[in-house]
Amino acid sequence: MITSLITIAYIAASALFILSLGGLSRQETARRGNMYGIVGMLIALVATAAAMNAGGLPVLIAALVPGLVIGAILASRVQMTSMPELVAILHSFVGLAAVLVGFATYLGPHPTMTAGESHLHTAEIFIGVCIGSITFTGSVIAFLKLRGSLSGKPLMIPGRHLINIIMLLITIGLGVAFFMAPDPHTGQWPLLAATILTGILGVHFIMAIGGADMPVVVSMLNSYSGWAAAAAGFMLSNDLLIITGALVGSSGAILSYIMCKGMNRSFVSVMLGGFGTEGGAASSGSSAPAGEVRSVDSATAAGMLEQSKKIIIVPGYGLAVAQAQHSLAEVVKLLKEAGVEVKFAIHPVAGRLPGHMNVLLAEANIPYDIVFEMDEINDEFASTDVAWVIGANDIVNPSAMDDPASPIAGMPVLHVWEARDVIVMKRGMASGYAGVDNPLFYKDNTLMLFGDAKKVVDEILTAMRG
Ligand code: TAP
Repeated sequence: MITSLITIAYIAASALFILSLGGLSRQETARRGNMYGIVGMLIALVATAAAMNAGGLPVLIAALVPGLVIGAILASRVQMTSMPELVAILHSFVGLAAVLVGFATYLGPHPTMTAGESHLHTAEIFIGVCIGSITFTGSVIAFLKLRGSLSGKPLMIPGRHLINIIMLLITIGLGVAFFMAPDPHTGQWPLLAATILTGILGVHFIMAIGGADMPVVVSMLNSYSGWAAAAAGFMLSNDLLIITGALVGSSGAILSYIMCKGMNRSFVSVMLGGFGTEGGAASSGSSAPAGEVRSVDSATAAGMLEQSKKIIIVPGYGLAVAQAQHSLAEVVKLLKEAGVEVKFAIHPVAGRLPGHMNVLLAEANIPYDIVFEMDEINDEFASTDVAWVIGANDIVNPSAMDDPASPIAGMPVLHVWEARDVIVMKRGMASGYAGVDNPLFYKDNTLMLFGDAKKVVDEILTAMRG
């Protein structure tokens, strides 16, 4: 009876996880998607606890309660802009868990198995431990790089691809030794050596990846952590863990693909590393844009906005840093009341994590029906009076289209320069995440409005109310 109930609970939790992923794909349904995920996870936790023998419950509770408390405190304190860091460190826990589950399964008491089952089980353990170890160390390095504790500069050791291949071949050799080991006493050594080696591989892999590619790598590690969890599910014969791991693994891989497409980077070139240095040091190789920069003050910008028929707002990372979305929502409300058509244009990699801008705008209750994806709105800039760029840089950089030597050449960008006027709001002339100069700032129809986004939007709001 209890076994059937647990199976039903596992099926229900799996269905809720699938519904959750479906819900998270659109902003209108994202809250519902989150809810499905939370309920699914609750069901999964209760069913797993019910499936345990009573003796293990105190240990489970002793691990679960501090974990829940620490997780809740960290998640409630984290800033949206630090989200990739948090995600990276959480992936490292999944990797570490897969390694520990692998060792515990191998060294602990074995259930009776046929020879075929036993071979499969040995392979599951080895693969699970190796993926777990790469995910663990790689995620720790990603966390330290994103936090700034380690340099964002790619570590380019000469012959690094050869070193990686050699480490991979030795790991395969250790896998064979592990497979042939007559008993766990002998087999634990190749398993331990492979854990250390794949751990070093994880460090080396992620150290070679530059700052600009880091979020793609976090999403890729997300995928790895899913496969590590699925491998742990096989080791523990837990169907729910296998399904959940596979969902995380495949959705992480799809997300990495979407991000690579948005940045015009091939997945292989991200993995081979090297792109993007810290502090905006990357250079296009061609001459830096030059010309006169014209600036306006907030009152003039407010007047230009009020006198427009159509405005497209392009939010970027700076909007998130300044937390200007609530003041911006007020400005949008006033403009709409004055009969101005206002739309938002969202670039797929605006900000620092997928959907970053959508979350910010939803937080400020900006209606979904005026928020458009890049492909839906890019043709409309030519018929727009003012393109208002707030804290964005790389995603509106025309050199991605005009300069084949630019590090971001080929990246799809928002064609803001086609509007009659462009107002670019940022604090100074600093480059964006990719460290590339932006010729947009020197165009004849561009006006720079310097200052912190929140402060300047508040000034515009005051001017409009006045
Ligand atoms: P960025 O190109 O990073 O530009 C943001 C600009 O905001 C900076 O140039 C900065 O200039 C300005 N800024 C910072 N703080 C500000 C503040 N308080 N007030 C006003 N302005 C401020 O951002 P973007 O245009 O959103 O592009 C995103 C970048 O991140 C792309 O290169 C993208 O490839 C990369 N990336 C994103 C993702 C995802 S999934 N979103 C993933 C990987 C990589 P000042 O310092 O002069 O103010």
